[in-house]
Amino acid sequence: MTEGTVFRLHRLDAALGAEILDLDLSRPLDDDTFAAVRRAFLENNGLLVFRAQSITPEQHIEFSRRFGPLMIHVLRQYLLPGHPETLRVSNVIENGEPIGLGDAGAIWHSDLSYTPEPSLGSLLHALELPAEGGDTSFANLYAAYDALPAVIKQRIEGKRAMHSYNHSYERFSGSKWRPPLTENQKNEVREVIHPVVRIHPETGRKALFVNEGFTSRILDLPDAESRELLEVLFTHSTKACFVYRHRWQDHDLVFWDNRCTIHLAHGCPEQFRRHLHRTTVKGDAPY
Ligand code: SIN
Repeated sequence: MTEGTVFRLHRLDAALGAEILDLDLSRPLDDDTFAAVRRAFLENNGLLVFRAQSITPEQHIEFSRRFGPLMIHVLRQYLLPGHPETLRVSNVIENGEPIGLGDAGAIWHSDLSYTPEPSLGSLLHALELPAEGGDTSFANLYAAYDALPAVIKQRIEGKRAMHSYNHSYERFSGSKWRPPLTENQKNEVREVIHPVVRIHPETGRKALFVNEGFTSRILDLPDAESRELLEVLFTHSTKACFVYRHRWQDHDLVFWDNRCTIHLAHGCPEQFRRHLHRTTVKGDAPY
């Protein structure tokens, strides 16, 4: 329980995250409550689970915008009509066409790390959940960095890595959700370079900033060495001791920090519908 605020907070029994109870996001939060939410987000390693949120897309967008400007996903066909700030994460097919990105998050990643100013955080709201599966796992990349053996810390000190949307997209070729990108889309998501370890701009803590989804290589290393080192970092950062696995409940809104966490969608059997809305808040250039 947090003193002096109008909501209850329960730390999750995991490497990151807290549950927020008795807070209604359908109404604008006063400045003190909003500041308490922001503090809770930073103090719980960048993961908050807001339970039981019956909110409209407009209310979801309005709450998200308080953290910063919202990013528009390059796969425009999956944006919520009338609300381009909202990506539909959905396996629902209507009139023979997918209405959302059904395989979003199938590889560990940090949202939009392939952009020059990657996302601060994402807010995912559950509208329809499958009877089986559909969990999402989150890993704490502060803890992963802290626990690296000294020899690996030395190897990545000052190193930079390439992040590429295409690198990830190509691995899904043939997926019904991933038609080939147009030239315009490719131009929108050119490769970018970020430090392998970043300093979180709000907490000042160091976090690993590589992810299997979008990090294609470490610069200034031979290819084989870059691949080997990335593999070490990917395997290390997703060890069970750094991970919380979220089993969704109806109307959960989960807010994660893309600057110090990565996440993975576990998927669900095809016969079940899974339908969520995601907003993505813009962040700063990593340093
Ligand atoms: C995502 O990566 O944003 C989607 C995660 C999920 O569907 O659980």
